Amino acid sequence: MKKKRLVTSALPYVNNVPHLGNLIQVLSADAYARYSRSKGHETLYICGTDEYGTATETKALEQGISPQELCSKYYNIHKEIYKWFEIGFDRFGRTSTPQQTQIVQSIFWNLHTNGYIETKTVEQFYSEKSKMFLADRYIMGTCPKCGYQQARGDQCEDCGSLLDPTQLINPLSKIDNTSPVLRSSTHLYINLPKIRPMLEKWLNTKKHTWSHNAIKMTEAWMRDGLKSRAITRDLKWGIPVPLEGFTDKVFYVWFDAPIGYISISACHSDAWREWWNKPEEVELVQFIGKDNIPFHTVIFPASLLGSGETWTLLHSISSTEYLNYEGGAFSKSMGRGVFGNDVVEIGLDVDIWRFYLFFNRPENSDFTFTWRDFQETINSELINNFANFAHKFLRSTISILERNLCRRIYFPLKVRKYGQIYKKKKQR
Ligand code: MF3
Ligand code: ZN
Repeated sequence: MKKKRLVTSALPYVNNVPHLGNLIQVLSADAYARYSRSKGHETLYICGTDEYGTATETKALEQGISPQELCSKYYNIHKEIYKWFEIGFDRFGRTSTPQQTQIVQSIFWNLHTNGYIETKTVEQFYSEKSKMFLADRYIMGTCPKCGYQQARGDQCEDCGSLLDPTQLINPLSKIDNTSPVLRSSTHLYINLPKIRPMLEKWLNTKKHTWSHNAIKMTEAWMRDGLKSRAITRDLKWGIPVPLEGFTDKVFYVWFDAPIGYISISACHSDAWREWWNKPEEVELVQFIGKDNIPFHTVIFPASLLGSGETWTLLHSISSTEYLNYEGGAFSKSMGRGVFGNDVVEIGLDVDIWRFYLFFNRPENSDFTFTWRDFQETINSELINNFANFAHKFLRSTISILERNLCRRIYFPLKVRKYGQIYKKKKQR
């Protein structure tokens, strides 16, 4: 019997418009799911928005709407853009559902019952004005290493040092510009060292169908990174922690997000356990960017293994390198990059973009998008090579040919024109 294939692409953060980097992931999984179906495997392709956490809460505050409203707004934006890209999800869901709460809490209770949850008390910055604990990156101050005055609590963007917010000189809350105070808070941790033997046993049977970068990073994590990790946060926008004494906290977004793959499947079909609790019958194939590797190869599998239930665990992983834009990283706030809505607005045929993104998929090294390369690749690879090939060998299919011939003249003009207009627009 052919194995079923459960295909996922990383759940994009809901609080922004998707950029070409997000599109690489959904396109990759889309192509794979189509291929898998064509080979006769029963296939389920699941994706959706990752909605909880500080970033959403803060952005909603900025826009003066509730986190739920913010999520719904961006969920629809994501959904429309992927529809335009002709991504064939079986389900594009979201993490803020009752199913997600139920499954996350049940996995948590199992981990708890099995003795894999511990508590620790830590000192954290708290804003007395906003009455909230502040996430590391919402604290700003002077870098103790280089003196840069706008260093973020988790990292100095000037000298690159990783920081603990308590190291900052003159720390300031970015949310309300007040000086934060230190307060202690007790959190729940998942005891990864205790799960380690199970994890190692599982890892040793896997990995031969993983990207090189995923193997390397996972090995490094197993070697130096396997410490207990906090799975709770002092926030409102998240899944409530059901344990007595912790009910004013929520689960950390990275604890709940990967469980989103499961709950979105549950929203799709009552038969979700036929996919998720059947490791003998189902292969789980995941598409992500390299910054998400340890969450998919170590932490999520560890949560599932520690729960003691039988789960379908990762089979293959494809983790791409970064896609950059004209020499820098994509950044919505700095207006740098090409975003899904821009692509739709530009009005080229979707296949042009699908082709270009696949052609340059950052498989083994980072790739930089430039408008010039976009134009040249479309004109030479797609139109000259491919369309001419089609012209020569498919003479009988006249209507396609005619379209291709028109495109040959039409697209280069259009790409040039929109590339320029687009650049001007960005410069303003
Ligand atoms: N939202 C994360 C990002 O965009 C990815 C989450 S993947 C999941 O980087 F597995 F956690 F869902
Ligand atoms: Zn610095």
